[in-house]
Formats: sequence, structure tokens, C-alpha cells
Amino acid sequence: MISVNVPGKIILFGEHAVVYGRPAIAIPVHNIQAKVTISPIKSADEGSIYLDAPNVNISAWLHDLTEGQPLREAIQLTLNALNIHEFPAFQIKISSTIPVASGMGSSAAVSVALIRAVSIHLGNPLSIEQQSAYAFEVEKLHHGTPSGIDNNVVAHEKPIFYTRGEQPQIFIPGERMVFVIADTGIASQTAQAVEGVRERWVSDEDYYEAIFDQISELTVLAKRAINTGDNSTLGSLMNQNQVLLKALGVSSPEIEKLVQCAQSAGADGSKLSGAGQGGNIIALVPPSNETEVSNELKKAGATRIIVAEVSA
Ligand code: PMV
Repeated sequence: MISVNVPGKIILFGEHAVVYGRPAIAIPVHNIQAKVTISPIKSADEGSIYLDAPNVNISAWLHDLTEGQPLREAIQLTLNALNIHEFPAFQIKISSTIPVASGMGSSAAVSVALIRAVSIHLGNPLSIEQQSAYAFEVEKLHHGTPSGIDNNVVAHEKPIFYTRGEQPQIFIPGERMVFVIADTGIASQTAQAVEGVRERWVSDEDYYEAIFDQISELTVLAKRAINTGDNSTLGSLMNQNQVLLKALGVSSPEIEKLVQCAQSAGADGSKLSGAGQGGNIIALVPPSNETEVSNELKKAGATRIIVAEVSA
């Protein structure tokens, strides 16, 4: 039996701007995970695969899923890459504790876990880069023009500095970082938010390009602050990134409320994370303030709190 776990993720800097070629920073969140388990089924036909994914109400043979269904696609891409089409039947179980529609990389983590597990099971493990590349193809089915940051950070399971179309740079922080992630309770629809930004960009390219440039400068400074362990500068850069995300039109009253609450409760900085218009905010907190900030965010209406840590 093969069992594979892949973490969720959160974007620290550069969401939306990353779609327009600017850099972004993301970290894995290890206490939420997608899990894929593979075991043989004796009685079934050669080459058949049974899929059991209770979270999304799927319990079916792979060939009975419609073509283009993301789980089917991830498996099919793997079989094609390995050029293996004859094998003893097996069953795949998929489960995940990564919240969906909240910018935490749930779809990318499930795809990477599936691709990794199937390739290991068939005796030919694909490289991390290949896992990420095939998961990127599946991400396109979820939302048309993904930047590729989600599949990269969850496949590498390390903090990354990422520019579209380039290999991610993996980096190690100079100081331990503790983040409180708070959910607005409103689903974040990535495709819709990305499309909204595109419409506004089309109507005034110069204005939006200038915002993307400013976000890009913050992201580069953030990388330096993370490397040197300067959490106070990092927090201030997060606050500045939030102002620019608001100018892009992807914030919301609920996001602003939680962002302000975290700052008043003693966070070094806070901002929305991911596509916005709902989903999560992320606050960088001094470790001694984690409980205080979490409690205040709950009082302010956060529907779920997840604490993520990146060690030095
Ligand atoms: O909300 P998420 O995790 O799907 O992230 C969206 C991040 C965007 O930059 C808005 C889109 C992308 O593909 O990078």
C-alpha cells in the first residue's frame, strides 16, 4: 500500500500580480494536507482504477468519470507520462483537510498527491518538477489562467519565490515566522476574482501595471526581510501589499475588518491571501501574541483559524 501526504499552502506576497509576470512568495502549510492512498484490488480487470473521494462525493471507476474531470485528468496525465497502460487493478482513496475555495491550495495539493502516489505505485516516481508541471495542467481546468504558484509550492513543500514560467527559488527564512490564518467564512472564487482584475486591467492598463510594479517591489523587499529574519519590516510590507490589493479591487469589508483586527491585536502585519473577495487573511504575529491575535480574530467573526509556522 502507498500513502502520500501533500501540504496546503498560503500566498504571502504578490497574488494577482503574479498572473502578470511579477514575482510572488508562498509557503507550505503542513498542518493541513491532502492524502492519497493506493491499494491493489484483486478481482477487477487489468488496467482498471477505482476512485474513492468522499469529500467530493465521488466513488466510481476512473473510466466512468467524464473526460476533463480534474481527478481523472491528473491520473491520465501520469499514466501517459509513464507510458504505462497495463497494470494490475488498483484503488485510490483521496481525502483532504485543506479547506476548499479559500486560497489554501486544495486542488493543487490533491493533484500533486495523486500524481506522486500513482507514479510511485507504478514503480516509476516522477520528479518534483514533473509532479508540479502535470498538476499545473490540472490547475488550468479549475481556473483558466493559473500562475503556477500553487502547484509549485505544494510540490516542493518549501517556501518559494516564484515568477511565472520560471523554476521556483526555494529559500530558508532567517528567523522563525508564525502566521495566523483567519477565514472570512466567504468562499473565494479564484476564476471570478482573476477575471475581475483582468477586466479592470483591460480598461486601464497603465494604472493596473503600475500597481503590479509596486507589488513586485514589495515582494522583492519581503524576500530580503524573510532571509534576514526582519519580521517587523516583513509585517509592514504585508500591510502595504494589502493597500495595493484593495486598489486592485479584490478586498472586501469582511477582509478589511479581519485585517484591521489583527493589526490592532498586535500582529506585525496582515493582508488577504490568495484570490481575495473572501477566503482568508494572513497575519504575521510575534509568537507570544499568537493566542491573543487568534482570539480577537474569532471575536471579529473569523470562522476558522489555522496557525502556520515556518522554521528558520
Ligand atoms: O486563491 P488561490 O490560492 O487560488 O490563489 C490565487 C492566486 C492568484 O494570484 C490570484 C491567481 C494565481 O493563479 O496565481
